[in-house]
Amino acid sequence: MFVSKPEIIIESDPHRLSDIIVHQIAVYFNKRLNNQAFISIALSGGNTPNVLFRKLADISLTLIPWHRVRIFWVDERCVPPEHPESNYGQAKRYFLEHMDLPVNNIYRIHGEDDPESEAHRYSSLISSLVPSKNGVPSLDWILLGVGEDGHVASIFPDQHELMYSNKLCSVAHHPISGQNRITMTGKLINNSSWVSFLATGENKAKIVNDIIHLKNEAEKLPAALIKPRNGRVTWYLDIQAGALLKY
Ligand code: 6PG
Repeated sequence: MFVSKPEIIIESDPHRLSDIIVHQIAVYFNKRLNNQAFISIALSGGNTPNVLFRKLADISLTLIPWHRVRIFWVDERCVPPEHPESNYGQAKRYFLEHMDLPVNNIYRIHGEDDPESEAHRYSSLISSLVPSKNGVPSLDWILLGVGEDGHVASIFPDQHELMYSNKLCSVAHHPISGQNRITMTGKLINNSSWVSFLATGENKAKIVNDIIHLKNEAEKLPAALIKPRNGRVTWYLDIQAGALLKY
């Protein structure tokens, strides 16, 4: 299994960083669309992506053929789409409602439905739409954040077995609030072609450094277990989040 070293891109601030991301993914998406009818991407929630979502809304329409991009979510809180904590609702507010994208290319997780049933439905949906590699659906691009505790998607350190689940999507629980979540598992995330971490702010500096340099017993944290077997990993950091990295 070949796992390449992660690329690290540090930029002065989230706006300039987002501009770089949009231009880099636009080149990548268009290149892949030379050989396939659609590409499939998955978005994370949390606060960090909001600047990127706005940038996508502002400049990507002429750069990315969105009618050929299928949009999934890495995870979702088990709340209705209009709930302020909905990851889909957040992407809609900052990105989707500013774009005239084909609604049938947008595949939100139904946070309002029974969690186990929805995890199963979403797994089946991905299997039916996303071409497989090594017998597992392979997403073209995944946007991940990272929690200060080292979680990614809704895979928290106390449920890191979800990194090894045989399912594509599973039910998870927030370790403090107990909130039900639906999350992609390591099986799906680590079969994607390109995982992009986005982390900004000084509060992420320690976890970013621990994960990238496997310090302070970080090797078992979910974020450290993101190693696409045939894909690449890029860390997009602002100066504050990258402040402790020595490389
Ligand atoms: C979610 C996200 C989650 C997020 C991290 C970082 O549903 O909350 O998918 O994995 O990326 O918690 O969140 P912030 O960007 O808010 O720091």
